[in-house]
Amino acid sequence: MEDDVMDYTLILTSVNEHAGLIQINRPQQLNALNAVVMEELAMALEELEHDERVGCCVITGNQRAFAAGADIKEMAEATAVEMLQRDSIARWDRIKKIKKPVIAAVSGFCLGGGCELAMACDLIVASESAQFGQPEINLGVIPGAGGTQRLTRALGKSKAMEMILSGRYLTAREAEQFGLAARVVPVEVYLDEALKLANEIAARPPLAVRFAKEAINKAFEASLSEGLEFERRLFYFLFTTEDQKEGMRAFVEKRKAEWKGK
Ligand code: HXC
Repeated sequence: MEDDVMDYTLILTSVNEHAGLIQINRPQQLNALNAVVMEELAMALEELEHDERVGCCVITGNQRAFAAGADIKEMAEATAVEMLQRDSIARWDRIKKIKKPVIAAVSGFCLGGGCELAMACDLIVASESAQFGQPEINLGVIPGAGGTQRLTRALGKSKAMEMILSGRYLTAREAEQFGLAARVVPVEVYLDEALKLANEIAARPPLAVRFAKEAINKAFEASLSEGLEFERRLFYFLFTTEDQKEGMRAFVEKRKAEWKGK
């Protein structure tokens, strides 16, 4: 791995071959997501977005906690007006704008804003010890960074209701079974597996990867007919790229394709 690209205080960043890695680094607070973590996370993703070595990003925490939620101490005494003026959740929109795929490598507590952060990523690789939950109800609030929306789309209404109304956690196996996590692996290897997957994705033609991500995300925003139309336009557009010609010619010529990202 190469060293930190930039100096951050509460995250660590590095580049592993073609995977950009961001590690939330507030272990004493179980990686609670305060304003500094979220600002640094958004900045680091934006930096990796422009890093030509990087084709896919991974966000992780540590074995005990991906993140135990937004920082409760930071907001406990805030008034509604202060929350509105801070509008710290607006930072999350910057994560949504990242065009390269982002994998959440989750172990341990993945709660509240932590679960929302994992769901804001494109896919989740979980360790067997991961626990997913939206326990905000126990604090007198509800999820505020997408939990009611993304969990419902991921699990369906009944399971989302159960988790959000009762605060019950899902085990890693349940998360996989219900489609929240793409895969569950032993805790010793969850980060390696996520980085391996990120490097596999990074080895694919970048424009097709980008359009595939956009098209899948469209499924959450649009009607089926709008989504199908959008997909079709992207599919046809890819025929303007050198990589499409190279990919199909390489298949016909029985050789390995060499991608240019053009
Ligand atoms: C601030 C937190 C924190 C959090 C843990 N800590 N979670 N600090 N915000 N979300 C701190 C604890 O205060 C403690 O600090 C240290 O981390 C270790 O936590 P413990 O509770 O001592 O550990 P443990 O007994 O193992 O319990 C782990 C836990 C528990 C079950 C995860 O910490 C917990 O319930 N945390 C809160 C989970 C939660 O409600 N998350 C949702 C937050 S609201 P000290 O200094 O005492 O040692 C939210 C809204 C999002 O996320 C809205 C949009 C952004």
